[in-house]
Amino acid sequence: MSINLYSKMLQQRFYCRIKYFSRAYYTVKNHNIAKDENFMAKQLYSRIKATGPITIADYMKEILTNPFGGFYMHKNVFGSSGDFITSPELCQMFGEMVAIWCLNEWSKIGSPKPFQIVELGPGTGSLSQDILRVFQQFKCLNSCSLSLVEVSPYLSNLQGQRLCLKSNNITIPSSPFYKEGIAKEGVQVRWFKRIEDVPDVFSIFIAHEFFDALPIHKFQKTENGYREVLVDNDEKEGHFRYVISRNETPAVKTYIKPSECRDHLEISPQSLLTVNTISNKLESFGGLALVADYGHGGEGTDTFRAFKKHKLHDPLIQPGSADLTADVDFGRLKEAALEGDRVIAFGPVTQQDFLSKMGIHQRYKALEKIASGKQIEALRMSFNMMMDEEQMGKRFKFLSLVPAVLEKIVEKYPVVGFS
Ligand SMILES: C[S@@+](CC[C@H](N)C(=O)[O-])C[C@H]1O[C@@H](n2cnc3c(N)ncnc32)[C@H](O)[C@@H]1O
Repeated sequence: MSINLYSKMLQQRFYCRIKYFSRAYYTVKNHNIAKDENFMAKQLYSRIKATGPITIADYMKEILTNPFGGFYMHKNVFGSSGDFITSPELCQMFGEMVAIWCLNEWSKIGSPKPFQIVELGPGTGSLSQDILRVFQQFKCLNSCSLSLVEVSPYLSNLQGQRLCLKSNNITIPSSPFYKEGIAKEGVQVRWFKRIEDVPDVFSIFIAHEFFDALPIHKFQKTENGYREVLVDNDEKEGHFRYVISRNETPAVKTYIKPSECRDHLEISPQSLLTVNTISNKLESFGGLALVADYGHGGEGTDTFRAFKKHKLHDPLIQPGSADLTADVDFGRLKEAALEGDRVIAFGPVTQQDFLSKMGIHQRYKALEKIASGKQIEALRMSFNMMMDEEQMGKRFKFLSLVPAVLEKIVEKYPVVGFS
């Protein structure tokens, strides 16, 4: 069945809106914006002055998601006019490959209904849009809903405009979701702040470049054992520097394993909690999960960095003006997911490997045949960027999780893209 589905999908002519380097963006009204571009620096400086150095996790959380000055909270940071570009933004092919993975794995186990697609950190909504389009093409949207886990009110408005004919903010304080709408394809869309709040039904969890945005703690080996790297005020107001904690912090005691030997390492407790929630939900209510991000298998060291206008930037300079990110530790993520034998995991495999196995070369050829001059150029550029070893091809990894109860089925019919 999967072969038929693939060839049908790969040859489809139903859609050839090849996106140019930056997709067409919607504009949304700004709200709650700090007008002062040094707002975050001042805020952090006062906080550190009052309470002492803060962890990198606290620093990262404030800078990315502070309601007034947080990087994600009040502007569109994606695309050529923003600070970085992601695969779903580059080209429709990426979303199509992810969609066909979801469709295939969901069909394989009998197309359970009702079901929801849950996207964590949907950015501009491009990936969800591509997934809904493919599901609609295969007439699989009956009994489907879309749940988006998004912390940014600005981006949730953008997602609403991209995905829905109309969407409304929910003002009832006890509501688990803060916004709802109906997608152009007719499915119900709801926005949640926390993954814990998404409905308890069969779920296809998708997380693309989500875990790399979650706060990390940084640790350094010293002659007295591991110590935490903290952010302290520098002499000049609004300037910061790294310091090493004098003693073991709670994070050192909680997260450093006795077998650890790296000189430097990073751990994201929020990522471990999130994947733990995914495992719980997969075990209790059924589903599938696909995590894609740049990352390593557990050998990574110092990867914390910032991006501004597509260039590397010092994370301590003008906080709030640049994206902060760290490579995802897939080894640790997988370990947390597998705890208690609730799920089984496949991967991580490289993006190049996953997309190749999903048939991206055939899809590329099919699209190239119907594209015109400029479109072919854009298509080729996006394809190379996603697949090239020096670009995203090797740095990005894919991990999938399925409930442990499906072990026999996946032994017989392996999870596509990973076998
Ligand atoms: C790097 S962007 C990735 C966007 C999109 N997945 C893509 O690949 O284009 C991270 C996304 O996660 C959201 N985000 C960051 N931290 C979050 C959190 N703690 N809870 C929910 N969403 C978060 C951001 O607002 C943004 O939509």
